[in-house]
Amino acid sequence: MLGIKSSKFRLTFAATVIAAISGAAEIRFTQAASPAKSMALRAVMKSLGRNMQTMTDAISKEDWAVVAETASKIAHHAEPPPPERRLIIDWLGSNSETFEALDEQTHEAAQAVREAAEGGDDQKVIETFARLQNSCLACHQRFRKPFVEHFYTQN
Ligand code: HEC
Repeated sequence: MLGIKSSKFRLTFAATVIAAISGAAEIRFTQAASPAKSMALRAVMKSLGRNMQTMTDAISKEDWAVVAETASKIAHHAEPPPPERRLIIDWLGSNSETFEALDEQTHEAAQAVREAAEGGDDQKVIETFARLQNSCLACHQRFRKPFVEHFYTQN
């Protein structure tokens, strides 16, 4: 989500990024009095979490149209606004490539779920869905705790 992706990618998601920016501004405003401000990335993640729940539910119902649509939302998830992206990249330092690669794995796995669902290939949906979950887990295992400690813990 922080990557130097193609300009086409950036343009396609300009609208969602704008939505994320205004969302983030609102969070900052309403939480101004509390010590830890919420990062826009957290709102992006909450939304990914909801998408995954929708997808699990749709898989149980074998509703491949909803699975495909939700996979597409995950593949095209919003990014934090540029100032926050810079903060995160600075913090990541030499780990930023790993972080980006893990994000890319999530995008790719979500595309694979979408393709499988569009083809109505139920077994492939299950396989690619597992891959998608693993891609979320891989980044969380490596980065979630240090991220929260760095951006939310006051010294
Ligand atoms: C490239 C790294 C990365 C990937 C990939 C990633 N996450 Fe996250 N996720 C994070 C980080 C960092 C946090 C901690 C953010 C925070 O607490 O502000 C997080 C936190 C979360 C949270 C907790 C938010 C909260 O309310 O505290 C959820 C839910 C979540 N991610 C869902 C997902 C799902 C679902 C996927 C895969 C579809 C995913 N994430 C993929 C990095 C990632």
